[in-house]
Amino acid sequence: MAQVFDLAVIGGGPGGYVAAIRAAQLGLKVACIDKRGRYGGTCLNVGCIPSKALLHTSELFHASQHEFAHLGINVKPSLNIDQMMGHKTQKVDELTKGIDFLLKKNKVTPFAAAARFVDEHHLELTADDGSTSTIEAKNILIATGSAPAPLPDVAFDEEVIVSSTGALSLSSVPQKMVVVGAGYIGLELGSVWQRLGSDVTVVEFLDRVTPGMDGEISKQFQKVLAKQGMKFSMATKVISVAREGDKAKVVVQPRDGGEEQILKPDVVLISIGRIPYTEGLGLETVGVACDEKGRIKTNGHLVTNIPHIYAIGDVIDGPMLAHKAEEEGVAVAEQLAGQSGHVNYNVIPGVVYTSPEVATVGRTEEQLKADNVDYKVGKFPFAANSRAKINHGGEGFVKILADAKTDEILGVHMMGPDVGTMIGELALAMEFGASAEDVARTCHAHPTLSEAIKEAALAVDARAIHA
Ligand code: FAD
Ligand code: NAI
Repeated sequence: MAQVFDLAVIGGGPGGYVAAIRAAQLGLKVACIDKRGRYGGTCLNVGCIPSKALLHTSELFHASQHEFAHLGINVKPSLNIDQMMGHKTQKVDELTKGIDFLLKKNKVTPFAAAARFVDEHHLELTADDGSTSTIEAKNILIATGSAPAPLPDVAFDEEVIVSSTGALSLSSVPQKMVVVGAGYIGLELGSVWQRLGSDVTVVEFLDRVTPGMDGEISKQFQKVLAKQGMKFSMATKVISVAREGDKAKVVVQPRDGGEEQILKPDVVLISIGRIPYTEGLGLETVGVACDEKGRIKTNGHLVTNIPHIYAIGDVIDGPMLAHKAEEEGVAVAEQLAGQSGHVNYNVIPGVVYTSPEVATVGRTEEQLKADNVDYKVGKFPFAANSRAKINHGGEGFVKILADAKTDEILGVHMMGPDVGTMIGELALAMEFGASAEDVARTCHAHPTLSEAIKEAALAVDARAIHA
């Protein structure tokens, strides 16, 4: 007899495990299945967490070489890469155990197996040792995430030609590194290895970094990274990538025509986006519909074309971000429990955890123009913020976009120290439909970086005090 559940969640990443916990909190009998053998998905195992561990270590290493002496601290740092990787692995292990604990505490039934649809209510589970079992579920949630997009005809060997997964585990600092794609992964992991001593060249097809972000931020961001020593080859297409011994041969050409150039890095990171992952799920058996990009199609309530089968996270449309997947997981669980869970897609923050960080929420200037919205801009530089000056030198700025008539905040775009944490204040403000005036009238502690947000809100009405 198959075990019967109210909800079977396929995938134990931030979308899946959070949905499972929330559904169990609400009294449902829940199974959470992951074939990786440990929970946390891409984010915890080979994404958000290990990348942030390396960003943290490399930032300190770089600061110890280039900033400490200026502050009167004299040290001679050297890198122990095994220790750095060991720290990363240890933190990932601890956090995955934390999820095991939470699932257990909430009485979610775990399965370390690959799930495949047998029919609309039954899943076949195949464990690593090849043994199979079947479970039955009234509702099924697909949260199978995404995988790195390869360049056509280029296979990852994860040593010389690497995806983000390989770039998180290099055994030595490459002398030269080529990064294909100036998006989130390319700039974060490019920064890591550059701070550790690599000569990094970023090859980007478009003529701007972080496409989709506010144009002014993208431009300033590229300038700051270039000042740090990162090289950019913009509007450039990759003709071929191949391994030659222990190096890569990367042939590039200006996008709009011109001479080909050959680059011979020790490592090439291909970070040109991620693709939805549905391999082996057997979607065709039950007829779950996907769009032309392979994303599972859902309606506004995250339901697929089959009424009791839901999908969330990277495997559906929308930003491929852990917190977006989590919000969707909670929304599905609450709907199943008869509540009215929903996700506000207008207020999903995005953060690039470089130094300085970039953080953004809501609409960009380009989007407002395209939507014919009349808006005001309030900007404030971190160079005029006392705390940023003392601690970080004052690079970057806060930019608030507000409706010209109602003053409602429509978008916020920031580059500077710790803006990834501070964007939460603006996301909250936007959730409450706040005006720039609301933020401007809120008392912010002194001296903090967050005063730059208040000043930018004041600047919407041309009354910033310190600039
Ligand atoms: P995933 O986390 O991909 O989880 C899906 C799980 O499903 C996997 O564990 C997989 O094993 C399992 N699975 C797949 N098929 C099956 C099957 N048939 N049976 C059983 N199990 C299956 N996002 C952020 O918000 N902040 C960041 O800082 C950030 N940094 C990132 C850094 C890197 C290097 C990368 C690659 C990504 C980063 N992301 C970040 C993106 C984030 O990791 C994803 O958006 C997030 O993990 C998506 O969650 P998910 O639950 O949809 O899928
Ligand atoms: P991305 O979509 O952020 O950036 C890909 C870049 O590659 C774009 O600039 C694109 O124009 C460029 N590109 C595409 N094809 C190309 C080609 N053939 N040649 C040269 N350039 C090309 O994708 P990325 O960096 O791979 O990350 C995937 C996703 O993972 C991100 O979109 C994000 O959702 C998530 N992520 C989030 C992080 C965070 O929240 N801090 C960190 C890392 C990843």
